[in-house]
Amino acid sequence: MIIKINEVGTRDGLQSISTFIPTAVKTLWLDEEHACGVREIEVCSFVPPKLIPQFSDATDVVEHAKRLSGLTVSALVPNLKGAQRALELGVDKINYVLSVSESHNLANVRRTTKESVADFERIVALVSEHQGKKPKVVAGLSTALGCTIEGKVTHEAVRTLALLMLKAGADEMILADTVGYADPKAVKQLFQQVKSDLGPIPITAHFHDTRALGLANVCAALEAGIDSFDASLAGLGGCPYAPGASGNIATEDLVFMLESMGLNTGIDLTKLIKARQTICQALGDHPYHGTIAKAGLPIGFELSQSQSQSQSQSPH
Ligand code: COA
Ligand code: ZN
Repeated sequence: MIIKINEVGTRDGLQSISTFIPTAVKTLWLDEEHACGVREIEVCSFVPPKLIPQFSDATDVVEHAKRLSGLTVSALVPNLKGAQRALELGVDKINYVLSVSESHNLANVRRTTKESVADFERIVALVSEHQGKKPKVVAGLSTALGCTIEGKVTHEAVRTLALLMLKAGADEMILADTVGYADPKAVKQLFQQVKSDLGPIPITAHFHDTRALGLANVCAALEAGIDSFDASLAGLGGCPYAPGASGNIATEDLVFMLESMGLNTGIDLTKLIKARQTICQALGDHPYHGTIAKAGLPIGFELSQSQSQSQSQSPH
């Protein structure tokens, strides 16, 4: 079985760092992960540079990412203006963000969830009228498993919003545990429900490891039939508008777990651990997470058989 891993550190990770990271470091990060076999990266956010100066170089970063062969280039977009910028630059996926929790939506994108849905409809219309290559339009539902402002978020609320976004024209869906409130039982139930509600459209799970349940939640989502996961190199991440939010599950730990289970990620783990070292050094001193890079691979660890085969046959 093939599991898709999407690197989001270059967006989720970098938005949590207030000092500006040079463009050359961002593009090095993209090159390194691409060389490891990662084939989808959320490379930046199209947000007002005044609000998050970290992404003021989004144009250069996207232009660079587009030159990496076979890479699906996605970008986070909070509104129509962001979608216009992403569309002009020719990204492959527009990852639109809105929150199930009304309070987080107001804090994060300064409007109600209903207003965010209406803006999404405008984005879908914009893309459908676009003459050039049409990107996929993805609905990213934040705080799907809890909110540090409101607390509990019901599965009912998530299902209702997911269906609204499907009706509005979403090609894909991301369910995000933005603040690390999820547990495996809740994850399995929610993803099973949403999957059966939405039918065949791709669903990605996005977990933060704030309370150490990130990888357990991945296992629960796998049981619900999910085969696409966001993760961040060295577990860097966190929403600046969600109090107490911290890092994503670490990409290298996720690859280690999946490959140990015989699930093919297409990613060269030894190379990825080296890439982590290179990127952490280039980024400087920040709160890094993840254990496999520190502990080292177990003696006799082998990549899943399917990966060894796919690597010897074609470069994925
Ligand atoms: N890209 C660049 N500029 C943008 C923009 C975008 N996506 N959206 C708005 N702007 C500009 C406007 O043109 C306007 O510029 P001006 O002051 O020169 O006229 C200014 O920003 C304010 O625009 P407005 O529509 O009033 O936005 P706002 O201040 O209400 O903010 C969002 C709304 C959605 C843009 C903002 O809350 C946001 O970017 N949130 C995302 C936060 C985030 O990244 N969170 C983490 C990810 S989950
Ligand atoms: Zn996140």
